[in-house]
Amino acid sequence: MNTYSIKELLSSKHILQEVIVNGWVKTFRSNRFIALNDGSTLHNIQCVVDFENFDEGLLKKISTGAALKIKGTLVESQGKGQNVEIQVTSIEVHGEADPETYPIQPKKHTLEFLREKAHLRIRTNTFSAVMRMRSALSFAVHQYFQQNGFYHVHTPIVTGSDAEGAGEMFRVSTLDPKNPPLNEDGSINYQEDFFGKETNLTVSGQLEGETYAMGLGKIYTFGPTFRAENSNTSRHLAEFWMIEPEMAFYDLDANMDLAEDFIKGVLSYILENCKDDLEFLEKRLLDEEKMKPAIERSEMPLIEKLKFITENNFKRVSYTEAIDILKNSKPNKKKKFKYPINEWGADLQSEHERFLVEKHFKCPVILFDYPAKIKAFYMRLNEDGKTVRAMDILFPGIGEIVGGSQREERLDVLKEKMKALDIDEKELWWYLELRKYGSAVHSGFGLGFERLVLFATGMSNIRDVIPFPRTPQNAEF
Ligand code: 4AD
Ligand code: MG
Repeated sequence: MNTYSIKELLSSKHILQEVIVNGWVKTFRSNRFIALNDGSTLHNIQCVVDFENFDEGLLKKISTGAALKIKGTLVESQGKGQNVEIQVTSIEVHGEADPETYPIQPKKHTLEFLREKAHLRIRTNTFSAVMRMRSALSFAVHQYFQQNGFYHVHTPIVTGSDAEGAGEMFRVSTLDPKNPPLNEDGSINYQEDFFGKETNLTVSGQLEGETYAMGLGKIYTFGPTFRAENSNTSRHLAEFWMIEPEMAFYDLDANMDLAEDFIKGVLSYILENCKDDLEFLEKRLLDEEKMKPAIERSEMPLIEKLKFITENNFKRVSYTEAIDILKNSKPNKKKKFKYPINEWGADLQSEHERFLVEKHFKCPVILFDYPAKIKAFYMRLNEDGKTVRAMDILFPGIGEIVGGSQREERLDVLKEKMKALDIDEKELWWYLELRKYGSAVHSGFGLGFERLVLFATGMSNIRDVIPFPRTPQNAEF
């Protein structure tokens, strides 16, 4: 007798075979029908129990959440709703789930409640669908790059540099916080720390990624990223996963082409390979939308929205054009923006990004050539001396999903910029040497993986698309 996953059984063409299946009880009705799920698919398999043949004590142990091993015969289903079911011959209880206390009962739970039960929420349909999609997206990311000549590089988690220059880093230290070694001026002496210098968790693998692109040609990183920004929003995590491709000999246009093709590629993959989960999440979203006031409802069902992205070109707009549009927009004139747009140079807030994408262009937008002042030091300076070859991709309902740029490859210009921003050349001596030896035009971008999962699943809070979210004041589990 062989053990099968429920996914295999539900698509099996061989009925009347003896099978073993393991899983968790979703429901147990009328002492007769067990709906069993093992995570292999959204769907449950119905297991039919002839209760006269089973010990009453055993049947009492079967309730929602219990883990079972079931042996039986796969037969054509007599009832509606499924093609096959299992006529049960034996049941072994791996572990019971006390119905008095087991929190995941077969009823609707709020996402907020489930966040507090993050260790059990994966047993709900919503979370299993989201996490299977997350896994498929992760596979699609690797597949896309591997099929397009990119090498996967593992950049370090612990680093001494602040790539984004935002200073929002988690310190890594083994010093005794109560009694750290001090310098004569009273500051902490990090030379005595584990690495002999100040270190932190990485905010981006880009700078190390650049070194590998300047040898392997095209690389990508896909790793955990940490930001100690105190942003308690539905789009920010303190620990998230970022995908960062970096390509030698790519200018900004080639970079934008790649980013657009990449996003379309991974979304096409899930449209093709996650149909059941997508249909379930689409329906879930439609039910949820019904509860919302009409103006807050999204215009397209989930699958249509994903197809719209894969089938249409992203709109490319310069920062300068975007500022003109925003300046003259209705919400700006009517003072509806929290941050009014008065002049060129203003940093765009998510209200502005969402206006451009959702109201004005009604499609994904790639904004490029931002003012140097509001972007990181490594972006290539344009001829005008005031803008840099930056690009952000803005998505409906999400805002910024990608941030990238062509990199400054000219040693003298880069040194100049670092000086202006007070970045110590000694800290980044190796980064500068890339510009000294065989420097070349190169570009890359970073895509926040959870923002992609958020978009692809139609969920609305980033805490619900990562298994164990880390946010300010929250690192449970
Ligand atoms: O725009 P960011 O800060 O860009 C970089 O880190 C560059 N080094 C990338 C590169 O050029 N290689 O971050 C890139 C993306 C954002 O567009 C967003 O999708 C995501 O990372 N992101 C976050 N996602 C979740 N929580 C946060 N706190 C995030 N911060 C950025
Ligand atoms: Mg950014």
